[in-house]
Amino acid sequence: MSNETWDAVDGYFGDLLLGSDPVLDSALAASEAAGLPQIAVAPNQGALLNLLARAVGARRILEVGTLGGYSSIWMARALPKGGRLITLEVDRKHADVARANFGKGLKLLEQLAAEKPAPFDMAFIDADKSNNAAYFDWALKLSRPGSIIVIDNVVRGGAVARAGSFDADVLGVRALAERMAGEKRIKATVIQTVGVKGYDGLAIAVVL
Ligand code: SAH
Ligand code: DHB
Ligand code: MG
Repeated sequence: MSNETWDAVDGYFGDLLLGSDPVLDSALAASEAAGLPQIAVAPNQGALLNLLARAVGARRILEVGTLGGYSSIWMARALPKGGRLITLEVDRKHADVARANFGKGLKLLEQLAAEKPAPFDMAFIDADKSNNAAYFDWALKLSRPGSIIVIDNVVRGGAVARAGSFDADVLGVRALAERMAGEKRIKATVIQTVGVKGYDGLAIAVVL
């Protein structure tokens, strides 16, 4: 089975169930025109985030890693009137500075937590993978029982299970997995995905 088959299946269900959407399409086109990397979630994954947000009746959503706002739009559309989505991003062009600062996302989360916000019903973690465990800790701290936490890109073509892989992203995913395994306040699972974004996977945790 090949990427071609995965793409065709995404195309088949996508045409039937998702259709095309001018707002989302133009968000992607504008991101591409601005030279952003094309690493937004796939349309069916955006739809999954939207459905999960609806399923938990999310009124407040936290995202770490905005890129061009594609996944943000999908999730924001699930919010009721008066709902809020807070999304944290460090500009790609400032990546070098951010790396030196050791994770702008972490600093922003610290600031956000200091404001003692109402708990988030849903969090989507999709930023620098090496900080996944730390983002998870913050998401948990800012959650309530029943909140869900979704983490993107936990499979990365299978690298996570390759014993010889010690790349920073893989180590970040393993640190997250071990963190989740030892955390009594959540239940979590991982689903591998294939499709237009290749072979990857999502971790989904529910706060007990
Ligand atoms: N969620 C987006 C894709 C995000 S790509 C979507 O699916 O549409 C990952 C993003 O995380 C990039 O835009 C990158 O600049 C950002 N990022 C990387 N390190 C970060 C950090 N430390 N804090 C905040 N954002 C970060
Ligand atoms: C990549 C994909 C992502 O969804 C992401 O959030 C970061 C990086 C990638 O394919 O490199
Ligand atoms: Mg991602």
